[in-house]
Amino acid sequence: MIIIDGPAELSGELRVQGAKNSALPLLAAALLCKGQTVLHNCPDLSDVNTALAILEQLGCRCRREGHDLTVDSAMTSWEIPEELMRGMRSSIVFLGAMLARCGRARLCFPGGCELGPRPIDLHLSSLRRLGVNIDESGGWLDCSAPQGIQGAYVSLAFPSVGATENLILAAVCGTGTTIIANAAREPEICDLCEYLNRCGGRIYGAGESCVIVDGVKELFGCEHRVMPDRIAAVTYMAAAAVTGGNVTLRDVDNTHILPMLAPFEESGCEVRQLGGCLNIMAPRRLGAVRHIRTMPYPGFPTDAQPVVMSMAAVGRGASVFVENIFENRYRHADGLSRMGASVKVEGKVAVVEGVERLTGASVEAADLRGGAALVVAGLAAEGVTRVGAAEHIRRGYEGLCGCLADLGARIRETEL
Ligand code: UD1
Repeated sequence: MIIIDGPAELSGELRVQGAKNSALPLLAAALLCKGQTVLHNCPDLSDVNTALAILEQLGCRCRREGHDLTVDSAMTSWEIPEELMRGMRSSIVFLGAMLARCGRARLCFPGGCELGPRPIDLHLSSLRRLGVNIDESGGWLDCSAPQGIQGAYVSLAFPSVGATENLILAAVCGTGTTIIANAAREPEICDLCEYLNRCGGRIYGAGESCVIVDGVKELFGCEHRVMPDRIAAVTYMAAAAVTGGNVTLRDVDNTHILPMLAPFEESGCEVRQLGGCLNIMAPRRLGAVRHIRTMPYPGFPTDAQPVVMSMAAVGRGASVFVENIFENRYRHADGLSRMGASVKVEGKVAVVEGVERLTGASVEAADLRGGAALVVAGLAAEGVTRVGAAEHIRRGYEGLCGCLADLGARIRETEL
């Protein structure tokens, strides 16, 4: 449980962690690169630990020293046990890497945040196009590529981040050329391709909607620095915004922040970006964030919607949210309402009427980003807020409470 004694006024400087959503596919990629990979700036998170447990289960040796992770790659098993698969949805990216490394994989359907139905049909249908046989029975996937991975033209019905990563991982050591049309363009895809290319891969067009992968025989591990976490950055920006704060973030990639700037500017914050730093100065009372529509990159990211809703909750005026990516992504609305926010949800639309002040309450994190949104709201609320099920938050934020306490918040984490 996270306990916050609000309201806070945040000020100071903070280093932003490496990106969870980049570290996970990079660790899967380390499996298919022979020899040693060293990942710098790798955040210390429970999801990263799950990925390491998967790598060790498959035969790799992994070592952590601070934020540096060393993976000595080897593959002695092609099965991922059920408890590791159910621990997080992104464990599905190991499928492409395992197929590329040894042509076999057995795993069950993945778990993860409860954001509504999160199918993997696109992953499976596109891998089938690359010559993978997939047998689905009893919740298990038995996959094999008897002829190896065969390059092909694949057009994704939706630019899924995970499916794009899986396809790239599978195709990078395949035979011939794979063309991925309507690929996801998220910066994490670019980070993955940059690493793979440095290991000997031939991937072109990462960050654009058509990615071309020329298969190579083998890849050799190298050193790579995980990109900064753009969602952690926007979470700290939202925390500064709701508390009338003045915060400087270090280790930020400012180009990745651009698609998320509009609600900060709309609500009256002053954001200055210089090199790898970002400074945000918030007014005493925020304005409305007005209109947020979540879209694939470079649109506004669904992962940033919950924390920006906490800003809308205390902004002057009404804001409208349209969630286009996940069906069940307003589970923080209930907690915000308990704290006195006015949020009306109807299907994929939420209307938020900003109130002058939230009041501390006991609430529950239903998922990772929704949990972070409740912490942000708790910083703005009068009195004590208790956010239960904080393990969801630990999946994606390294030392959230410590970072916020360093900026002046009265916040601590307790085991129940
Ligand atoms: C990744 C991110 C997650 C982020 C999401 C969208 C990681 C570890 N997670 O998740 O934080 O919220 O991108 O930016 O990087 N879909 C299908 N069939 C599929 C795959 C996806 O219908 O086979 C649908 C999903 O249900 C969802 C949408 O496509 O509605 C987006 O999913 P996707 O881009 O695949 O998200 P993830 O890779 O799971």
